[in-house]
Amino acid sequence: MSEELLSGKSARLQQYIEKLATFIDQEKPGWTRRPFTKEYQHARKWLREQMEELGLTTHVDASSNLIGRWEGKKPDLAPIVLGSHIDTVTGGGRFDGIAGVVGALEVVRVLQTSGKRLDHTLEVIDFTAEEPSEYGISTIGSRGLVNNLTTNMLERKGPDGETLSEGIRQAGGLPEHISEEARQIGEVSIYLEMHIEQGPVLEQMDETVGIVTGIVGIHRYRVNVIGQPDHAGTTPMNKRCDALTAASELNLALEAICQEEWEKGVVGTVGRLNVKPNASNVIPGEINLDIDVRSLAIETLEGVMTKLKGKAAAISSSRGVDIKFDCLSQSTPIEVDDKILTLIEKASQQAVHTHRIPSGAGHDANQMANISPIAMFFIPSKDGKSHCPEEWTDYEDVARGVDCMVQSLFQIDSSLSPSSVN
Ligand code: GLV
Ligand code: MN
Ligand code: MN
Repeated sequence: MSEELLSGKSARLQQYIEKLATFIDQEKPGWTRRPFTKEYQHARKWLREQMEELGLTTHVDASSNLIGRWEGKKPDLAPIVLGSHIDTVTGGGRFDGIAGVVGALEVVRVLQTSGKRLDHTLEVIDFTAEEPSEYGISTIGSRGLVNNLTTNMLERKGPDGETLSEGIRQAGGLPEHISEEARQIGEVSIYLEMHIEQGPVLEQMDETVGIVTGIVGIHRYRVNVIGQPDHAGTTPMNKRCDALTAASELNLALEAICQEEWEKGVVGTVGRLNVKPNASNVIPGEINLDIDVRSLAIETLEGVMTKLKGKAAAISSSRGVDIKFDCLSQSTPIEVDDKILTLIEKASQQAVHTHRIPSGAGHDANQMANISPIAMFFIPSKDGKSHCPEEWTDYEDVARGVDCMVQSLFQIDSSLSPSSVN
């Protein structure tokens, strides 16, 4: 690709990314844009206008995903979907998910300006709430799109007592229609997502684009540890039922179990923890925490959780606390189909050199894999940082990722065995 073309693309991508970085919660650190907030709605309104300026037909679906459609020459073919998300973690950065959404818009622009309308209809989807939301559920929009949002998930409550179902409605969705509107196997030809790597590998290897070989599955549990609040000064050490020390032991057990299995690439984290009553002179009476365990192998995930639950039972009896596990979600690890991997790799190599890489982060692609083949393109993260304000990817690298998607789309459009929507 010529330097001139690259700089045109990267300048537009920069404009989009910088604009989205203005729709943030000023009271929170970093570039926070939590789903179901006013900043999120404002950002989506702006994004919808950009889609329409590009000539896409837009709508918000039952799960509240924002969808832009560009009809192909053969509208009977199941669409090719490009997507990602624009919500962030609290204190997050400007690129996670965002690069994929604005990159997808740039793909459409490149195709349009080169006068190359595809046979397949192209859909660009900004999926609702990919990050864990205040309802404890992540990948909400992509789950909904593939009918994987259970009633239990829809009834989960946020901090103000409202349900996820109500949140989706306020975001423009129609929760009662999620199931009937959901896509079935064969109704999407392929799902492509460009995303920042969120790790150090590509940068260390001096590679610009990673072709994702597989994506971890994630099991998330909300755990309640119930002890006994009591006076911090007058309760002797042998008469306590401290929920926080019990939860700490559980967290250390998770770390030890995952370290034992490190060769299998499993990771486990307690990233959210609430202490009640949270006062310096009261023994903690109750802890509510979230456990996040990931692996590329389902049996490893299940093995870690079985061991951890055994450990929890032992902590419970030795410390006299009650420990309850509530499963928030379980996504399945994904292996990208070999034929697709080769096709995407060959096509991308017309634009840049590529490197095969697994994903330790979860993505909307995990959900889309329930109904369609998927492929993902990674672009480098500076110093491997992500989910923090320092998150950075050079705009030229975002543009290179766009090129790989464009080249891949040409290949897919002509060679993917056509599956028609009935
Ligand atoms: C998504 O950001 C994840 O938790 O991997
Ligand atoms: Mn993320
Ligand atoms: Mn993401």
